[in-house]
Amino acid sequence: MFILGIETTCDETGVALIEAKDEEIKILKNELASQIKIHQKYGGVVPILAAREHQKNLPILLKNIEKDFDLQKIDYLAFSVGPGLLPALVSGKEFVQDLAKKLNKKIIPVNHLEAHFYSVTIKNNIGRWQKIKKIMFPALVLIVSGGHTNLYLFKNWRDKKLLGMSLDDAAGEVLDKCARALNLPYPGGPEIEKIAKNAKNYFSLPKPMLQRGYFFSFSGLKTAFVDLVAEIKKFRKLDEGVKSDLAASLQKTIFEILTFKLKKAKENFRVKSIVISGGVSANQTLKKIIKKSFPREKIYFPQRSLATDNGVNIALGGFFLLSLNEKTLEAEELNIFSR
Ligand SMILES: Nc1ncnc2c1ncn2[C@@H]1O[C@H](COP(=O)(O)OP(=O)(O)OP(=O)(O)O)[C@@H](O)[C@H]1O
Ligand SMILES: [Mg+2]
Repeated sequence: MFILGIETTCDETGVALIEAKDEEIKILKNELASQIKIHQKYGGVVPILAAREHQKNLPILLKNIEKDFDLQKIDYLAFSVGPGLLPALVSGKEFVQDLAKKLNKKIIPVNHLEAHFYSVTIKNNIGRWQKIKKIMFPALVLIVSGGHTNLYLFKNWRDKKLLGMSLDDAAGEVLDKCARALNLPYPGGPEIEKIAKNAKNYFSLPKPMLQRGYFFSFSGLKTAFVDLVAEIKKFRKLDEGVKSDLAASLQKTIFEILTFKLKKAKENFRVKSIVISGGVSANQTLKKIIKKSFPREKIYFPQRSLATDNGVNIALGGFFLLSLNEKTLEAEELNIFSR
């Protein structure tokens, strides 16, 4: 069967086509239009600009797919219904509804965060059949991205429980905002990762809410970091050396908080695996810390190019949901939800 996946929750416009059967999939097309350049000027995503860009990009990406594929052959449209930025989702929703009506196809509503989880089961290989990786359940699942830091316990694909989440900023958001304090461009996570490699010294930073169950709080850490940068600037120039040290200290502190909570959950729940996904999971230092902290556990990370938002994750999510006999929707039944 053929599924077209559409992603518009934030600042990446994604349209992907997959073919799927039994426990195998083939990615036929993975079209992605990043809006990073547009939002960089503002140091973060501007929702209304994101919406306008999705409107502009979606027909172009679909054309690229249509060049080599008869859209009538599509069986279902999978759409990332949220959580996301409302104006961005509205653009996607209108496009998907029109397309569903035009092609007379049904829509599979896919939760964007669950799609981050599904992404760890495949590789971003175009044009080749691949077996979908089996997850060892029960699994602890940490979605760590620009909008979320959510820790779940999944007993199986259907039965999930949210153990905790960030009560303020998400981990990725803190990396983005603190990167700004270092005059690094948006998105900050990859920039912080890059310069952190040259660090020689570490600054001590607070780890808020470490003892409060599985909940996270990062805004205190963000403020402490911004204050520290301001304090340093009073006495010396913010040169490359000190910027590297600050970046490394920040990501190390965030990753230690994530690891601490995961360890606690691991002690309290009998799980067979740990899953880390979402944009921040692209970070190699995070990967190293997690692997070192759980040497005997089965750990799943997404391939770097599938860690951030894309249409493949959504199409794959559509296939998972169909396999679970979840409901598909007519165009006018489609609903979206914000962060
Ligand atoms: N290599 C990296 N290291 C650290 N952070 C990274 C890296 N690559 C991307 N990120 C961060 O990931 C975030 C983007 O991830 P993603 O696209 O999953 O988030 P989102 O879609 O905006 O949020 P959500 O999935 O919660 O709706 C940004 O905050 C970005 O800085
Ligand atoms: Mg995302």
